[in-house]
This record gives sequence, C-alpha cells and structure tokens, in this order.
Amino acid sequence: MSNPLVFGGTANPALAKAISELLGSPLGRLQVERFPDGELQVELGEDVRGRETFLVQPTAAPVGERLLELALLADALRRSGARRITAVVPYFGYARQDRRETGREPLGARVVADWIAGSVDRVVAMDLHSSAVEGCFRLPLEHVSAVEVLARRLGGAAGQVVVSPDMGAVKLAERYARLLGLPVAVVHKHRVSGAEVSAHGVVGEVKGLRPLVVDDMISTGGTVAAAIEVLLSAGCAPEVTVAATHGLFVGPSVERLRGLPLRRVVTTDTVPPPSGLPLPIEVVSVAGVFAEAVRRLSQG
Ligand code: R5P
Repeated sequence: MSNPLVFGGTANPALAKAISELLGSPLGRLQVERFPDGELQVELGEDVRGRETFLVQPTAAPVGERLLELALLADALRRSGARRITAVVPYFGYARQDRRETGREPLGARVVADWIAGSVDRVVAMDLHSSAVEGCFRLPLEHVSAVEVLARRLGGAAGQVVVSPDMGAVKLAERYARLLGLPVAVVHKHRVSGAEVSAHGVVGEVKGLRPLVVDDMISTGGTVAAAIEVLLSAGCAPEVTVAATHGLFVGPSVERLRGLPLRRVVTTDTVPPPSGLPLPIEVVSVAGVFAEAVRRLSQG
C-alpha cells in the first residue's frame, strides 16, 4: 500500500505541511489561482490515481471561499482517480448553527456538512462546537480532539479551577478538569447576538482561586471576556488562563481581552495563529493529532 498523500488548501498550508512532515512524505503539490472575474481555479500537480488522499482545509475566513476551494480540490482529486478522499477540516465553521432557535433559520451546520459530503468520502474534524454536529454529517466522521494536547501544555496546579464560560462547554470543562485534577465551575451566559453576550453568575466555588477558562473557540472574545468579568466579581484571583482549541480572534476580540488580567491564552494551529497581538498567546500544534488520525485511517 502506498503512503497517504496529503494536500493543503490555502486556509492553513503550514498545518498541512507539518502533518505531511510527521507522516514522512512531501505535501502534495497543487495550484490555486483566480480568474480576473474572481472565480477560483485549482489544479493538482501530482498523479493521484489509486491513492489514499487527505485534503487539509479549515474554514478560516473567508469561510465561503475556503469551502468552495475544498469542493473544487476534492473534485479535482476525484476526477483524477484518487482512491479515497478525506477532508481534514481542523476548524469547522457553521458548527455553531447546529439548532434552530427562532424557527425561521436554516440548520446551517447541516447545510455545510452536506456541501462537504457532496465532494469527499470521509471527514476528520476537531473539537466540533457540540457532539450534536456529528449528526449533521451523513458521511463517516472522525472527531478528534486537542484537549489532551492543550491540557499537557497547561498543566494543573493547586489553587486553580476549570471554568466553563457557558452551559454548552460544561462537558469540555469536565474533561479538562479530569485530566488536570481540578474542580469545575460554570458561568451562566446569555447570547444577545453573534458578537454580543452577557454573563450573569457562577455556579461553583471560585473565590480566591485562579480560573482556567476553557472553550471550543475564541471568536470575538465576548464569551471569555464576559466570563472573566463575572469571575472577578465573584472574587476569583486576578490571574486568569484561557484555553480554546480554535483561536480565531476576530472583530473586537483584542479590545475585549487586552484589559483583563490574563496570564496565558493557550490555543492551537487549527487556523493560522495570529501574530503580533498584544495578548499572552501560546500556540500548541495539533499536527501530531491529525498525522496520527491520517496514519490510522489510511491503514484501515
Ligand atoms: C459558543 O457557544 C461557543 O462555544 C463559544 O463560546 C463562542 O462561539 C465564542 O465566541 P465569542 O468569542 O465570539 O464569544
């Protein structure tokens, strides 16, 4: 059996390269260009006939463009005779649209999962917003996690408490707490809009403790910032660590977070890590987690 062939779209070529290096094979060559009218044009630079292929493409901004590129590259692989195509989607945008709240919205996660499923045979994704999103995929989905890698980097120390910034992240917080041997507290959050949240209170003991706030992602920073404000009012020690798999840092995230007593913000490279932000960001690579998934999947 030949080695799996890894390709990387333009959303995170560094991660794709790191994965293929760990697998001991060169990254598959490809070209992504644009016609003058803005259309994407892609072309493979490898013979893929009969090969097991993996296409690494998170939905980093601009999300729609990345999805279209993924579909075009997958179609190129299919028409060029690849034996199997696995989309490796380290960050899956639209996962937060996993339920209908007003009755007048689409089930966005399902629509996008169907779009991806139309062009590949299998999907690998990391720390999806909720396990319910798995149900949106009609293809085999391999759901991997960065929690162990992040917990190893964080280390647990006496006097810390793991905090879930909302009800949705409670299970995630419990996983961190188990790995680090720490207690858990939960903040009660209400989402006002895509970029605005409000937090009301804390369940659990935080007074005098150093919080470790964990979430699947930091997008505009609203959730984490609101949680920290509530924790400070509840008397936690002003020395906060934040851990999140997907560090998007979009919109007002920096303004929201920079004035807070943050000691560490630990995230991964599922999307290209930001550089030069005035925040104590540490990035842990998840290339090893994906390389292991690729190795296992390609060996059946
Ligand atoms: C929401 O339920 C998610 O788990 C995150 O808490 C949220 O999406 C983070 O977004 P933001 O940083 O914009 O608050």
